[in-house]
Amino acid sequence: MTIPDIVIAVDGYSSTGKSSFAKLMAKEFGFLYLDSGALYRAVTLFAQRENLIRKDNSVSASLRSALGTLKVDFDREGRTCIDSVVVENQIRTMSVSSQVSPIAALPYVREFVDRRLHEMASGGRVVMDGRDIGTTVFPNAGLKIFMTASMEVRAQRRFLELTAKGQSACIEEVKKNLQERDFIDSHRETSPLSRAADSFLLDNSNMTMEQEILWVKGVLQGKFLILD
Ligand code: DC
Repeated sequence: MTIPDIVIAVDGYSSTGKSSFAKLMAKEFGFLYLDSGALYRAVTLFAQRENLIRKDNSVSASLRSALGTLKVDFDREGRTCIDSVVVENQIRTMSVSSQVSPIAALPYVREFVDRRLHEMASGGRVVMDGRDIGTTVFPNAGLKIFMTASMEVRAQRRFLELTAKGQSACIEEVKKNLQERDFIDSHRETSPLSRAADSFLLDNSNMTMEQEILWVKGVLQGKFLILD
């Protein structure tokens, strides 16, 4: 299937399978995959390491200037790096998950991440997942998908993901973290999570990844009148 040189924006709630789906689309279509949430997680890990998050979870104003020294990137395998050192596992811990949403709500952090995303996506043919890609970062994205799934399914997926990595987790704690993040992500002042009016809704509660790919191919064929 020949896909035009577009940006595909995938937004939605936490643990709805956005990154797995976005990665698979990138592989299937020969696009670059960019995980915007990983950049917010890397900023959070950086702030933790620099002792810029206080005990009450408030963030020191010094983070703003400290971001000038943060070099965050993805390596060839798509793993997140700080100063060229892979931090993929460190950014996926519960400790980072529980502090990332307040950090992602800071306007200067969002500016920092948006700038990096635009730099990295300058070549086009990109699949990017996040919360505000279709609404704010790439409002002219060629295709916008908004993903959702039931809370039970989302919590179970996140739980399995954590335990598969050998991290201890309890399903109730995971659910609570998802609910808290949904709330903060959808209620923050800057770029809250919301569905773009021109996005296609994908509820994958009862779908396999193969079915998701068939779905998006159908959407692309219809939208761009692709015949092959
Ligand atoms: O997709 P994720 O769970 O790795 O994202 C981590 C956090 O980053 C999430 O709680 C919300 C925030 N985020 C955001 O505010 N905007 C984005 N475009 C991507 C993620």
